[in-house]
Amino acid sequence: MTEPTNHIYPVFDRLLSRTDKEQLLHQRGLMVWLTGLSGSGKSTLAIALERELHRRGILCRVLDGDNIRSGINNNLGFSAEDRKENIRRIAEVGKLFVNTGIVTLAAFISPTREMRAMAAHIIGEADFLEVYVSTPLATCEQRDVKGLYAKARKGDISHFTGISAPFEAPLHPALSLDTSVLDIEQSVGRLLELVIPKITLTK
Ligand code: ADX
Repeated sequence: MTEPTNHIYPVFDRLLSRTDKEQLLHQRGLMVWLTGLSGSGKSTLAIALERELHRRGILCRVLDGDNIRSGINNNLGFSAEDRKENIRRIAEVGKLFVNTGIVTLAAFISPTREMRAMAAHIIGEADFLEVYVSTPLATCEQRDVKGLYAKARKGDISHFTGISAPFEAPLHPALSLDTSVLDIEQSVGRLLELVIPKITLTK
């Protein structure tokens, strides 16, 4: 068989593997997927967890509404269809990070079991850790950090999760954290206990 004239030497065209990257970083890639109502504390926990892991020499990436819905997903709203597309793109982007060996912390309402199952499927079940930020609606509404619950109650925002759009609690999350009961340090402590063994390279 004749070699193609423009053939590229395999040693140069082979993409470095995930394992190559993980060995470089001395860590395993993982997706920590935080789901829960608006105002439940997902982003706050993701940011605090990132800080703690970073202090321990772990490279992380937080994905949340601030960096995703304002950029790559700025053409999406809150219909069931748009939320699904939001989550699909986040999962695809997250997978790139995870496959680079990066501990990725995603903080999105991701309101339905179907959406979260899709994310787990895209990323790979073995790399996907579902964490339910189970802060009750009453607390989220009381906090109303962005004033959106008040608007949703008045009918100024439609399809608002927990008020006029559904939220399905995970059936078997790896961890549940109710931030109306636990303070940030306690929640982050539990997250670290769960996450560290999974991102530690054995050898
Ligand atoms: S998701 O449902 O598609 O996963 P995502 O986490 O990206 O939602 O965005 C949720 C944030 O968008 C909320 O915290 C809130 O600030 C804002 N938001 C605006 N409109 C809505 C709405 N109708 N329902 C829920 N959140 C909304």
